[in-house]
Amino acid sequence: MLNRLDTNVNIEEDAAWQAVENSILYYKGRPVGTVAAYDSSVEALNYDQCFIRDFVSSALIFLIKDRAEIVRNFLEETLKLQPKERQLDAYKPGKGLIPASFKVVFANGEEYLEADFGEHAIARVTPVDSCLWWLLVLRAYVISTKDFALVYQPEFQTGIRLIIEICLANRFDMYPTLLVPDGACMIDRRMGIYGHPLEIQVLFFAALRAARELLICQGNQDIVEAIDNRLPLLCGHIRQHYWIDINRLNAIYRFKSEEYGKKAVNLFNIYADSLPYYELDKWLPKNGGYLAGNVGPSLLDTRFFSLGNLMAIICDLANESQAQAILTLVEERWEDLVADMPMKISFPALENEEYRIITGCDPKNIPWSYHNAGSWPVLTWILAAACVKHKKLHLAKKAIEIAEPRLAEDEWPEYYDGKRGRLIGKQARKYQTWTITGFLLAKELTNKPELLPLVTFDEIPQELISRACEFELSSVEPFLS
Ligand code: GLC
Repeated sequence: MLNRLDTNVNIEEDAAWQAVENSILYYKGRPVGTVAAYDSSVEALNYDQCFIRDFVSSALIFLIKDRAEIVRNFLEETLKLQPKERQLDAYKPGKGLIPASFKVVFANGEEYLEADFGEHAIARVTPVDSCLWWLLVLRAYVISTKDFALVYQPEFQTGIRLIIEICLANRFDMYPTLLVPDGACMIDRRMGIYGHPLEIQVLFFAALRAARELLICQGNQDIVEAIDNRLPLLCGHIRQHYWIDINRLNAIYRFKSEEYGKKAVNLFNIYADSLPYYELDKWLPKNGGYLAGNVGPSLLDTRFFSLGNLMAIICDLANESQAQAILTLVEERWEDLVADMPMKISFPALENEEYRIITGCDPKNIPWSYHNAGSWPVLTWILAAACVKHKKLHLAKKAIEIAEPRLAEDEWPEYYDGKRGRLIGKQARKYQTWTITGFLLAKELTNKPELLPLVTFDEIPQELISRACEFELSSVEPFLS
């Protein structure tokens, strides 16, 4: 059983820990990850695999509960799956990528790990977020264990470098953001999030910060310089062009279009008529605001995406007043974004013609279900972390109180459907690991705010500064404050 530090574990938590134990994946006798779901009542598809993004909440809870060896094994094994050479076969994963998921295969009396970089996945989606989440897990592991020896091994330094190289590669694009295909993140189906979706940009920003802390400067000068160059540009771009509040909406509403050249104000040629501005005018609270889902040529996706907005708070991509405004919006629009289950993955749902055209008539993503404004309990920990960071403990507690009585009883569903999140997701797995670990983690972070530095960047941990390269790190500090 897992080490428990608390003595007052309740029945729901007990059931949760047992389920976590059942989800652990073993490879050559060592625990290396957790399966996405442990639900024998439905066909496993790829839910019997360890997904990198799903493992994040498992990793954090294992670190908190003195089970760091699982995280270490996970990091070592997934690093081995990362392609280290450029492959000429276009169907092979790019150098530096981390897979979406992996499974343990038994063949000829041997065990080996088989990775999926999207070549098996439904719709062959590319897991751009995996390598970004991987860096955040590595950083949390180092902060928690102080095992600097692991991250300073040449294999890990090369792994970090390759991830940053693939992110900062020469490309056609002219923005500081990352250009990605549809379904490249937690929303791994067609949902109109190709281009420059918020979730990827926020993870990119956080991953760059993590890499900056973890890379030894010697021998990495060029990449460190590239990170220092990109971070402030990316930060400025998102804070300015993705931001929506009532003032910004007013500016956009009166935008001129077809502006050419350096003096253009409406840089992306957004046509005000493309925005649901009357709805936004009603929906935006006086002091609330949020980061848009996507920005591109004549595109401003005004849907609210929870993961991107909350992670932007956690990693300081949103500035102080933006972070406050996002949390104000969550509080004032609680009935839309949380209601009976924390929390909506996106809001509002794509409906009618929009649903048909944008999702390709995806029966799983019908309005108010799954990725199309369904409610995902895993987001509770991210909501809790953002709230704890900004001293809104009451909101974190309220979310946990809503989730707690239902999750164990409903057998930890992957997601919920409906405007208020009262229906167990139509095709939701039960015993979904990140539902369980996300709930446990939300409780830990809320009860022990001192755990927050595992995921936040408030201050660059002193030990990391002195061990990596103090001089260069100090040069990125001004924009972080
Ligand atoms: C679904 C989710 C994805 C998750 C996977 C495994 O495909 O959209 O984010 O990683 O299930 O749980």
